Amino acid sequence: MDEKGDGHLAALREMRSRAVLGGGQKRIEQQHARGKLTARERLALLLDDGSFQEFGTLATHQFSEFGLDKQRYPGDGIVTGFGKINGRRVAVFAQDFTVLGGSFSEVQSQKICRIQDLALESGIPLIGLNDSGGARIQEGVRSLAAYGEVFVRNVMASGVIPQISLIMGPCAGGAVYSPALTDFVVMAGDSYMFLTGPDVIKAVTGEQVTALTLGGADVHMGRSGVAHLAADSEIEGIGIVKRLLAYLPQNNNEDPPQVTPYDPPTRMDEALNALIPQDENRPYDMRDAIAMIFDRDSFLEVQPAFAANAVVGFARLDGYSIGVVANQPAYMSGALNIDASDKIARFIRICDAFNIPIVTFIDCPGFLPGTDQEYGGVIRHGAKIIYAYCEATVPKISLVTRKAMGGAYVAMSSKQMRTDLAFAWPTGQIAVMGAEPAVRVLYRDDVQSAADPAAKERELIAYYRERFFNPYRAADVGQIDEVIEPRETRPRLVRALEVLRTKVQQNPPKKHGLVPL
Ligand code: HXC
Repeated sequence: MDEKGDGHLAALREMRSRAVLGGGQKRIEQQHARGKLTARERLALLLDDGSFQEFGTLATHQFSEFGLDKQRYPGDGIVTGFGKINGRRVAVFAQDFTVLGGSFSEVQSQKICRIQDLALESGIPLIGLNDSGGARIQEGVRSLAAYGEVFVRNVMASGVIPQISLIMGPCAGGAVYSPALTDFVVMAGDSYMFLTGPDVIKAVTGEQVTALTLGGADVHMGRSGVAHLAADSEIEGIGIVKRLLAYLPQNNNEDPPQVTPYDPPTRMDEALNALIPQDENRPYDMRDAIAMIFDRDSFLEVQPAFAANAVVGFARLDGYSIGVVANQPAYMSGALNIDASDKIARFIRICDAFNIPIVTFIDCPGFLPGTDQEYGGVIRHGAKIIYAYCEATVPKISLVTRKAMGGAYVAMSSKQMRTDLAFAWPTGQIAVMGAEPAVRVLYRDDVQSAADPAAKERELIAYYRERFFNPYRAADVGQIDEVIEPRETRPRLVRALEVLRTKVQQNPPKKHGLVPL
């Protein structure tokens, strides 16, 4: 066939080349001037070269009111399709801000839903690149209803395929809830997320905020806990998504991929034996322990700035993906509070959904006392940790490094809550409460009636500490399976997880449990 004479091919090519321009060259330049890439440029960076297969390229909206008939762009502000990341299949969508501010339309919804359905049926992760001013105002209830279509698919896919949202510009109004329903929200550059914008807030409350002070990465990483990872630039954000994906399986019926081991499983770091300070009230950084125990440079911390009294993230052990949960004695002495409970519980459930074994490090004086916490529902939130550990059927290993006091001992992966193996370092302290309050409760009369009350109190505290401030009583009764030298931790964990790799455990059939939300 003579191509030159083929009007059909020419028409298709013309349409495709127009689609590639989204909202047009001028809008692309504006996007670049804002320091942002276009939807297609972002996808090109995210996906392996030449792997992208686009669908819905030529779809357009069918509305004519508010001048929309003059703004009918092929693709309608979203690029959708399939591709590969490091050779693994993924489904993707990228909102195109150059078309009507990436606003969410009925057609956007249809395109996203199509990709969501195919991703779920094929059991492959879904990654959304968000850059949108929310529901397309001109479409009225149709764009609002269209959100519901996406949300229901987010929920149906939840726990089946990994869902990752990368926020790369505005994510306003209804646009926030699809990301919020996904497993990970990653914020790049000066992106922001808010439900009601600065103008509305000013009108209603009088408060003056900007998009960034209201919903920038600092806010959602540090205060609200809405975001899980952040990056200074779009390119870095795309890199984080690729790294995150490497710890996750394609779907809940698969195990996460093992990378070729690059760090000897028998390596013992002598510095671990000196990590816990002689003075038991001095802090140390739990991340130092994690860095020495797991495969070199493998730790990807999730939500590092939110509830920094807890540490969660993915690491590798002999090349296998592991979920790490820990108290952080370097911040608030590692006490558990409302935010730490939410952070830990959510992370446990993600690991459990995606067949990632959990290793828990415990150094926690207990739940944080205070009216703020009690009024805020620390009982309800703390219960989430317990629920999540009890429910999780993946291999679970715990390690008490120092304090495991009271509720913290129980909540943080204690043996009875279906933890497979429990280790402790010799510095472990497992007791119902600290020595001072315990003596006050148990021996108030003895102390008051003593000739020298202060000396009596000191004596009783010393007695209590000798009895309980070690891991051996717990080991006596089988609550701790083995007391190990800190430096032995890596080889011990490698071997334990090797055994547990084929663990099978099931929960009773039910519609769903009632996690204390
Ligand atoms: C239609 C929109 C739009 C929207 C932006 N645009 N948002 N068009 N519907 N929701 C258009 C703008 O009119 C503009 O077109 C172009 O996109 C770029 O927008 P700018 O305002 O120039 O960009 P910027 O200054 O960067 O500001 C971005 C923004 C702002 C903060 C997102 O556009 C904005 O406040 N938009 C509305 C946000 C919002 O309130 N959305 C909520 C909708 S309600 P022109 O042609 O002028 O350049 C909702 C509820 C759903 O979503 C609830 C479901 C649970």
